[in-house]
Amino acid sequence: MSDPLHTQLCEQLGIEYPVVAFTHCKDVAVAVINAGGFAVLGEAMHPPEHIRADIKWIRERIGDKKFGMDLVLPASVPEEKTVEELLAMIPQESRDYEQMIKAKYNVPEPKEAPNTHTWGGLDQKRALAQMEVMFEEKVPVFASGLGSPQFLLDRAHAQGMQVWGLVGTPEQAKKQIDAGVDCIIAQGFDAAGHTGQIGTLSIVPQVVDLAQEKNIPVLAAGGITHGRHLAAVLALGAAGVWTGTLWLASRESDVKQGLKERILECETKDAVFSDCVSGYTMRTTISPWHREWRKPEAPPVLKAPLQMMLAADYIQASLDHERKDLMFEAAGQGVHYVTAMKPARQVLSDLIEETLDVFDRLCGGDDD
Ligand SMILES: Cc1cc2nc3c(=O)[nH]c(=O)nc-3n(C[C@H](O)[C@H](O)[C@H](O)COP(=O)(O)O)c2cc1C
Repeated sequence: MSDPLHTQLCEQLGIEYPVVAFTHCKDVAVAVINAGGFAVLGEAMHPPEHIRADIKWIRERIGDKKFGMDLVLPASVPEEKTVEELLAMIPQESRDYEQMIKAKYNVPEPKEAPNTHTWGGLDQKRALAQMEVMFEEKVPVFASGLGSPQFLLDRAHAQGMQVWGLVGTPEQAKKQIDAGVDCIIAQGFDAAGHTGQIGTLSIVPQVVDLAQEKNIPVLAAGGITHGRHLAAVLALGAAGVWTGTLWLASRESDVKQGLKERILECETKDAVFSDCVSGYTMRTTISPWHREWRKPEAPPVLKAPLQMMLAADYIQASLDHERKDLMFEAAGQGVHYVTAMKPARQVLSDLIEETLDVFDRLCGGDDD
C-alpha cells in the first residue's frame, strides 16, 4: 500500500504531513512548519505593517519553506464607518443588558481599550492595504473565509501565489472552484469560529466530488483533533486537514494560561454555536456571556460588527484580568480530545501516530 499520508497537498506544498494548522500565533505556525506540517497565520485584525513584520519573522525561522496567511477579503468587510459612528448605532436596550451582565458577574473594566473595537473599523481601505502586503511579500498561500476570490486570483497566480478558499456549503465551494482557487477547505458545523450548518462528515465528500474534475485538493476542517479524524477524512477523499482547536493549548500557543486550562476541561457540549459574540454564528467555548444571551429576556442579537463591539469590553476585561470564569475562545467540537499542553511538534507527531495506528488496524497483516 502506498503511503496514505503522502497526499496531493504534500506534493503541492513540499511538506511531509497533510496537516495544516490555522493559528493566530506565529510560534505555533513556525513549530508546525518546521515539524513537517503546514501553517496559516490568521491576521485579519492586524494593521498592514504588523502583518509585514510577522511575515519577515516567520521567514527568518522557516527558511525556504512555504507558509500561509489568512485575512478577510476587502469585498466582505463592512463599509467604512468610524468606530464612533458604529458605537452610536448600538441600541440602549442592548447596552443595558451588557451592563447587567457586567454587574452580575463582577466584570472589571478592561485595562486597555479593547482591540475588538478595531473590528468595527475594519474597513475596505484597510483590508485592501492588508492585501497589498500579501502581494508585495509574495506570501506563498493566501487563504480567506469570506467573499469571492475572483478579483485577486489572476494577480496572485501571476506572482506564483496560491489562493485557498474556506467554504461551508457545496454552493460556495462550486463558486470558488469555478473561480480557480488552488485548494478548497471544506469546513463543517463541528468547527471553531464562524461556521455554517453542515456537518464535516457531510460537506467533505460533497466538496471532494465537486473539486475532482479540476483536480483541486480539498482539506477537511471542523472537529479534527485526533488521528482517527485524519484517517476518516482521508477516506472521504480529502487531501489533508485544516485544524484550529488542536493547537490552542499547545505549549507555544499565546492563548492565556487560564484559557488553555478551560480548553483542556471543555467537553464537546461546551463548544457552543451562537451569534452572541460577533453577530455571525460562531462556535466557541461556553461562558457567562453566552448563557445570558440565551435567555428569553435577552434583547435581539445585533448585526455584525455591532454585537462584537458590544461584547468587546467583556472579552477584553476577561483576558486582561485573566478571569478563567469569564474567558472564552473559538473552539470546535473536537475539543474533547485536546487534553494536554504539549509542544506543537508533539501535537503533530501524536496526530500522525494515531493516524498510522488506524491504517495498521484496518490494513494490518497486508505487507504487500
Ligand atoms: C481561536 C480560533 C480563531 C479562529 N479565527 C479564524 C479567523 O480569523 N479566520 C478564519 O478563516 N478562521 C478562523 N478560525 C477557524 C479556523 O480557520 C478553522 O476553520 C477551524 O478552527 C477548524 O475547526 P477546528 O477548530 O474544529 O479544527 C478560527 C479558529 C480558532 C480555533
